Amino acid sequence: MAWEPNSRKGLQAEVPDNAPLQRRARQILKMNDRGGYTIPADGLYPFQWNWDSGITALGLATFDESRAWRELEYLFMGQWEHGLLPHIVFHVEDETYFPGPEQWGVNRSPTTSSIAQPPLLATVAMQLYQQSENPRATQEALTRLLPQLIQSHRYLYRHRDPEGTGLVASFHPWESGMDNSPAWHEALKRVPEIDWNYQRRDLQLVASEQRPSKKDYDRFLYLVDLFASLNFDDEAIYERCPFKVQDVGFNSVLLRANSDLLSLCEALNFPADVADLRETSERSLNSMRQLWSEEHSCFFSRDLVSNELIPVRTTGTLLPLYARAASPAQAKKMEQALEYWLNRGPYGIASTHPDEPSYQRMNYWRGPSWLHINWMISLGLDEYGFEGLAGKLKDVSSEMLRTSGFCEYYDSQTGKGCGGRDFSWTAATGLFWCLQG
Ligand code: GLC
Repeated sequence: MAWEPNSRKGLQAEVPDNAPLQRRARQILKMNDRGGYTIPADGLYPFQWNWDSGITALGLATFDESRAWRELEYLFMGQWEHGLLPHIVFHVEDETYFPGPEQWGVNRSPTTSSIAQPPLLATVAMQLYQQSENPRATQEALTRLLPQLIQSHRYLYRHRDPEGTGLVASFHPWESGMDNSPAWHEALKRVPEIDWNYQRRDLQLVASEQRPSKKDYDRFLYLVDLFASLNFDDEAIYERCPFKVQDVGFNSVLLRANSDLLSLCEALNFPADVADLRETSERSLNSMRQLWSEEHSCFFSRDLVSNELIPVRTTGTLLPLYARAASPAQAKKMEQALEYWLNRGPYGIASTHPDEPSYQRMNYWRGPSWLHINWMISLGLDEYGFEGLAGKLKDVSSEMLRTSGFCEYYDSQTGKGCGGRDFSWTAATGLFWCLQG
């Protein structure tokens, strides 16, 4: 397999000072390649994760387009008949990860988890399509992928929004991808703690002050167990799950992906009736507007059990910029709020606003910044015409890579790397975004 840079793209000539870092980023993706799919990081995450692979595919595409498409194909090997694209695909057996297949209780091959993750993949497919230098292979890859993507979006709108609100529900904090976010704190309190003993693996690899508490972990596992005990029946889960939120981050990712999916179908003249998805996109946009908080200049998630907005400023609350769901006036207010947010911690956007009482500088999703989230928000800012702030985010992100390498996340006060090392989505985001000229 060719892992050398694609000289036609001339990356080295354009940004000579980033060349060593780009080389390192490609090496990391090669190291984490398990033959068709990429693990997020050696040791900590030994399987294929859903949104990680989406981001990783964007990085792979900078030097090997066909490998990028393969990343997505491997992920879809885990898709369920009704369309769910699970958050983990366990392609191999590996006892070192917890909770593994035994706890998820999913009887499939390859076996998977039973929950979703932010549905980035149609957006990824759109970017691969737009940048492709190999139209024929791209057309073939998309012809295979589009029906699967359509099915995965239909799953979310049909099974996770039975009341037709336009916004889909999440049943587990892990579905947000922002697993330990304080936005889930109150809703999670409703979840009982399990009383069986287990051994966490994450604490053997990362300092405990950067990871979730035991109480929260007990509740995460209760939910995993509940889904299996209800036979993964979404209707029953929707009725009975004590954790049920409309996550603004998840819905933003879905909204953008849905619009990309519709554009792809149109561009390829794809013979599928997607009128339902078009209609849902419009409804979703309208419902998203009801999540706006004028006081805080961001959009909040909604707790579907208490039926209240969740007033905690996290990076998820900014993702409507990426979804193009904010009005120009709202986007302007968000940009101003973000300027201040960045003044309080300049190294990327702190995952929880530093003024929130729940802010914890080093605890994951409670303070540190993530490179791919910086990219998503920067992209949104750029599209709304805020090139200055978008560029600032990009510069600070490449600086973090230069000083700390490719870590899982970064202390937004100092730029110091934390969590896992040699992390795939960080390397990938460097390649397709902040290490580019
Ligand atoms: C953590 C993150 C999640 C990510 C996974 C693998 O669980 O919270 O977003 O997908 O790690 O990197």
